[in-house]
Formats: sequence, C-alpha cells, structure tokens
Amino acid sequence: MLMNKALLLSEIAKKIEDCRRCDLWNGTTHAVPGEGLPEAKVVFIGEGPGFHEDRLGRPFVGQAGKLLDKLIVSVGLSRDEVFICNVVKHRAPENRDPLPTEIAACKVWLDQQLEIINPKVTVTLGRYSLARFLPRVKISTVHGQAIKIKSQVVIPMYHPAAALRNGAVLRSLEADFQKNSQLLKNPDNAVSTAKLNESEEDPNQMSFF
Ligand code: URA
Repeated sequence: MLMNKALLLSEIAKKIEDCRRCDLWNGTTHAVPGEGLPEAKVVFIGEGPGFHEDRLGRPFVGQAGKLLDKLIVSVGLSRDEVFICNVVKHRAPENRDPLPTEIAACKVWLDQQLEIINPKVTVTLGRYSLARFLPRVKISTVHGQAIKIKSQVVIPMYHPAAALRNGAVLRSLEADFQKNSQLLKNPDNAVSTAKLNESEEDPNQMSFF
C-alpha cells in the first residue's frame, strides 16, 4: 500500500511535540522533529537541537546549520531535497550531551521517521547518530566511508559543530562530502555501482573490525 509519507511524518511530528517519554521537553520552547522532503533519498541525522533550533522548532538553523547548508550545496544538493533530523528531538539543558536513557526514549521517533522515508543514504553527523547504526565504531576511524548495512548505505561524518571548533575536523568534513558527492547527489545510481564496505550483520550486534 502506498502511504502518504508527508502525512505520516506530520503525524509523528505531532506526537513528538507531545512526547513525555523522557524529561528533556521540560524547559524547552519547541520540539524539533526534523524537516525536509518526505521522499528524500538522503537523510542527515544530527545529535539534538541547540538554542536556535529550540527557539524555531527547526533542525540545524544555527551556526552548525549554516555550515551544513554549505556542505549540502557543495555537492549540488539543496536543503529541500533532503531530510534533516536528530537523535533526540528536544534540546538538552545547556546543550549537554544526551543521556543514554534519553536517546533510548527518543529512538522510537527516529526509527519511525527512517522507516517512513526509507532513504538510500543516511549521513550520520557526530558520534551519537553514528552509534544508532554502528554502536562500537569510533567516528575517527570510519568518517567518510560509505558502509552498506542491509539495503541502505550509511556515511558517518563528523558533526558540523565540531568542525566549527577545529580546522582539521572542518577539512575532513569538507573532504568527506566531496568524496561521497556522487552517492549524495545521485544515490540511485551510485548506491548500486559504488564500491562499499559491506556489512549484513545486525548493527546492534556487530563489531566493525
Ligand atoms: N546540532 C545538532 O546536532 N542538531 C541540530 O539540529 C543543531 C545543532
């Protein structure tokens, strides 16, 4: 049955706004469910909303978001052709790292979003979203490598906020986008022809090495 992805995603967004599965909502201005093209072939997953995202209820709209926009444009895409969301959907106090219990509580929403969108390529930004796919892998060893997990491709990348703090990380992030530009711009063709690191293992069970 062909379901309307936009409708399903907006229903989830409403549930996220009312979500009380953990305490993060307390003290926030808005939930930040995520946004973009419901039929996107490429999804970017960050860590969690910051100050500006909380104010607007939109993902990646602060300084890290400006950098992400530039990187997306650098491979010939635009923000409205992709979907952008986060591991946790409410801002953590003082932008602290999300707790394992908060990530676990919020997983149900990210899982449903990914199931509906069913992207060809998922770009993880930072270690928290990488951990959703490859919990035992260090970002410094896999960033920029396209990894096939079941029928989809995951490309771990550094978080844009880390790149804003460190020039070497910024250069790596820019290079990782360029290196994967074909996969990001033409996922249909590129996913079938690209030489990928393949894993058919359950990402929750596997060790990458
Ligand atoms: N950092 C994130 O991880 N997500 C956002 O939405 C903004 C900044």
